[in-house]
Amino acid sequence: MKKEEDRRLTARTITLNNGVEMPLLGLGVWKVGNGEELIKAIQTAADCGGYPSIDTASVYGNEEGVGEAIRKTGLPRESFFLTTKLWNTDHGYEATLQAFEASRKKLGVEYIDLYLIHWPIQETNRESWRAMEKLYSEGKVRAIGVSNFLEHHLLPLLETCQVQPAVNQIEYHPYLVSDELHRFCMEHSIQLEAYSPLMRGLLLDDSVLLELGKQYGKSVSQIILRWIVQQNIIAVPKSITPSRIRENAAVFDFELQPEDMKRIASLHKNVRSSAHPDHRDF
Ligand SMILES: NC(=O)c1ccc[n+]([C@@H]2O[C@H](COP(=O)([O-])OP(=O)(O)OC[C@H]3O[C@@H](n4cnc5c(N)ncnc54)[C@H](OP(=O)(O)O)[C@@H]3O)[C@@H](O)[C@H]2O)c1
Repeated sequence: MKKEEDRRLTARTITLNNGVEMPLLGLGVWKVGNGEELIKAIQTAADCGGYPSIDTASVYGNEEGVGEAIRKTGLPRESFFLTTKLWNTDHGYEATLQAFEASRKKLGVEYIDLYLIHWPIQETNRESWRAMEKLYSEGKVRAIGVSNFLEHHLLPLLETCQVQPAVNQIEYHPYLVSDELHRFCMEHSIQLEAYSPLMRGLLLDDSVLLELGKQYGKSVSQIILRWIVQQNIIAVPKSITPSRIRENAAVFDFELQPEDMKRIASLHKNVRSSAHPDHRDF
């Protein structure tokens, strides 16, 4: 028991359903510009040690910059966990294969660690997924998954897929606690990953979180990220500020008490900073 507790406190990676180890904490780079901004952010993430994980997407327009920044660290490719995503206009079997190749070239890498369908499109999810499976079977990507998928998007995919999605990346934070989807994903061995974990910064003034921060001697951001990773959910906070990147990475040296885990979950307000997956207009 003690050993398991120690592991929970210190584990920095989690094992996906295909055996691949994925860092519990990564760096989101949405809205981070190519060049110096990315170079500094990714260098800082690498300096934090462990197994740096970067979350980008073709639609972020910065895959080239991410690739450049990774190379500039001088670290070998395999010391990074790299995620990118298939954009909505690239759904379909052939289009997915082409979009993947375009992303891979922009990133300038041989393989991608995790490739996600960025948003569900019921009509084409299965075809796109077939292409994802091909990329996986060819070893071009170490794991494949989805993003913004609700249960009714996952179910039809699970009926026909040859390879189970390894990850579902969704908006998840104390104001949007998707317990049922989390349970569903766990039942199907799909790892949940939290995007906008700080609700784009909007959570940082919450009075309960501020109080807990004082109690544990941690920042609000650290309290939130600890709450997420302590549920064995991966988190990808975004920051371009080196001190914040370091702060966000330092969540493996303390543990929230069960009553505080519940208190944070009770902040749920069912509000989102991104679109609802069924009501997006892009
Ligand atoms: N799959 C999807 O559809 C989807 C959708 C949205 C986001 N994402 C992914 O999730 C990542 C994170 O989400 P997000 O960018 O929406 O928002 P977020 O990580 O919840 O919040 C980012 C904001 O919080 C600030 N911040 C970060 N750490 C902080 C700290 N320790 N103290 C104070 N402020 C802090 C950042 O400021 P500075 O940068 O100025 O430091 C930035 O303004 C994205 O970058 C992207 O990779 C995926």
